[in-house]
Amino acid sequence: MPATAVIGGQWGDEGKGKIVDFMAQNADIVVRYAGGGNAGHSVENENGKFALRTIPCGMVNSHSRMNIVGRGTVPELGIVVGELQALEEKGIDITRLRIDAAAHLVMPWHSAKDRLEEESKRKGNNSIGTTGNGIGPCYADKIDRVGFRAGDLLDINTFYENFRQRFKQRVAYLKRNYRSHFKRCSCCDLCRDIISGSVAVCQLHENIAYLKRKFESLDNLICDTRPILWEALDKGQNILLEGAQGFMLDIDHGTYPYVTSSCTGVASAAQGSGVPVNEIKERIGVFKSYTSRVGEGDMPTQMAGYPERKIREIAHEYGTVTGRPRRLGWFDTVFVKEVVRANGLTGVAITRLDILDDFPLIGVGIDNGTGGRRIDWIPGWGPKESVGPCRTWDSLPEAAKDYCNRIACGVPIKYISVGPGREETIVVS
Ligand code: GDP
Ligand code: IMO
Ligand code: MG
Repeated sequence: MPATAVIGGQWGDEGKGKIVDFMAQNADIVVRYAGGGNAGHSVENENGKFALRTIPCGMVNSHSRMNIVGRGTVPELGIVVGELQALEEKGIDITRLRIDAAAHLVMPWHSAKDRLEEESKRKGNNSIGTTGNGIGPCYADKIDRVGFRAGDLLDINTFYENFRQRFKQRVAYLKRNYRSHFKRCSCCDLCRDIISGSVAVCQLHENIAYLKRKFESLDNLICDTRPILWEALDKGQNILLEGAQGFMLDIDHGTYPYVTSSCTGVASAAQGSGVPVNEIKERIGVFKSYTSRVGEGDMPTQMAGYPERKIREIAHEYGTVTGRPRRLGWFDTVFVKEVVRANGLTGVAITRLDILDDFPLIGVGIDNGTGGRRIDWIPGWGPKESVGPCRTWDSLPEAAKDYCNRIACGVPIKYISVGPGREETIVVS
């Protein structure tokens, strides 16, 4: 199993972190290939509870000897440092991290623009509902070929010089374009900080000093990570490519414009890491047993009333990064079939099956013949039976097996998750 990609099959928060943590028990290297601090991947294992944003979930798994933030990602140094500090507190060896030199860095003006843009659009009700982490503006600079890359930090004096210059330009731009919002932006301290440029520079200094201290030199953290991956492939080692966001948030395939600004699928796993496409032998789609979405945009199988309230309450469906309530819907087989086809999935992981324990009838979204959805109601296994204690396929209630087969859309089921903990996982052979 040289390289395996694990992608989100819906609108994010499918439980990728949980599945990657489980699979990382058999992985030498775990790589994040796209996205940045907009992601929130939760893991619960013997080392504790973690919410990772940029750093691969293999970091909380002692088996993975190396964890890579790939060149397709957009790390923000402050977020990375915050994550490393949280990991250190739990006794994790953080020196197993590498950041690809070609990864573009989210800068303070990116996050400020993201938030100001959202604020200004909100009035006209056409905001995207971003996480406010500067993802779109950072990727825009990358495509515009004016971005700062992690490797630029290796020549720190030139980096600071360029940073200061760009900072001035971008603050002037933000003031000009978002004048009214800039003055009374209440979203955070960032806009106030950015006016007094010294604060941002100061934070940057602190973050870089921390990284230098922990890794002895930035060269030990930031490098071309592709040779590490190529060598591992030559040795037959296992590489896990950890997706962020979901395929319906993909900039090309998702529900544009209500998407993120990166490519989230299997093709991006190759592009964003340097692992050749033909080496990605296994392609696992992670699907929550129902649907959730944070931010704006259509969700054709959206629930209303009791089921939504009930699931939000038992499953605590609030964004890991922003705390926003997630909108909930029934499983949407129409979208999922597209996700399966476009990514050539070889297997699926179904998560949060336990959350449906309480429902005697479960909805499944199917094609209504005119491009919309019709909800098909199928019998559940609850409230008499519960999948939580099950650890094998055979021990699942028959109705739960039928439901899983139905939503897997013809793709082999590899894993079923029945709780947030690592051990609450069924491996389906
Ligand atoms: P990700 O972004 O795809 O990694 O997903 P998140 O971590 O943002 O959200 C998934 C949430 O579901 C987290 O709180 C997980 O701990 C939790 N979770 C994952 N799998 C299961 C499961 O099978 N059952 C339950 N009850 N919770 C789960
Ligand atoms: P993980 O990896 C859920 C959503 C935002 C918004 C849109 C654009 O935890 O699954 P952005 O900040 O990326 O410009 O926001 O994408 N979004 C996510 N929703 N989980 C995520 O990540 C998300 N990352 C971005 O809510 O609708
Ligand atoms: Mg998440």
